[in-house]
Amino acid sequence: MTKVGSMLAMASDHGGFAMKEFIKQKLQEQDYEIKDFGTQSEDSVDYPDFIHPLAFEINNGNIEKGIIMCGSGNGAQMTANKYPNVRAALCWDKEQTMLTRQHNDANVLSLPGRFISFETAWEMVQVFLSTDFEGGRHIQRVEKIAQILK
Ligand code: RB5
Repeated sequence: MTKVGSMLAMASDHGGFAMKEFIKQKLQEQDYEIKDFGTQSEDSVDYPDFIHPLAFEINNGNIEKGIIMCGSGNGAQMTANKYPNVRAALCWDKEQTMLTRQHNDANVLSLPGRFISFETAWEMVQVFLSTDFEGGRHIQRVEKIAQILK
């Protein structure tokens, strides 16, 4: 469970900008503190320029959780997952979001800004922030994610 008042990180490209602003306002109304890594308009940009700085902070443990968006959610998720301590999940509904918290201990939620409604996205964000990791058999699986073969 991520407590109200916690610092959350958000970032998007132009494809997720409108959704980011909507979700940011909803979270601020609930007293979450938001570190917004941009973008700040619908002008066309490159998503890695905004996702890398967010993922860097999550990876270093400076911020516990992040919410990212691009048009499809894919580019944002791929960028974030370059960092070993980031587990970014691309989700489309509440059930996927719950499962990725319970089973994968996802610390970043990636949303497809052009493919789901803002209301669905907000419901997913609430699930993301209120669902705990189950632990148990999932612990060693999650630990193995960053153990790449060399
Ligand atoms: C931008 O047009 C789009 O490619 C981007 O938002 C995202 O979907 C990339 O994965």
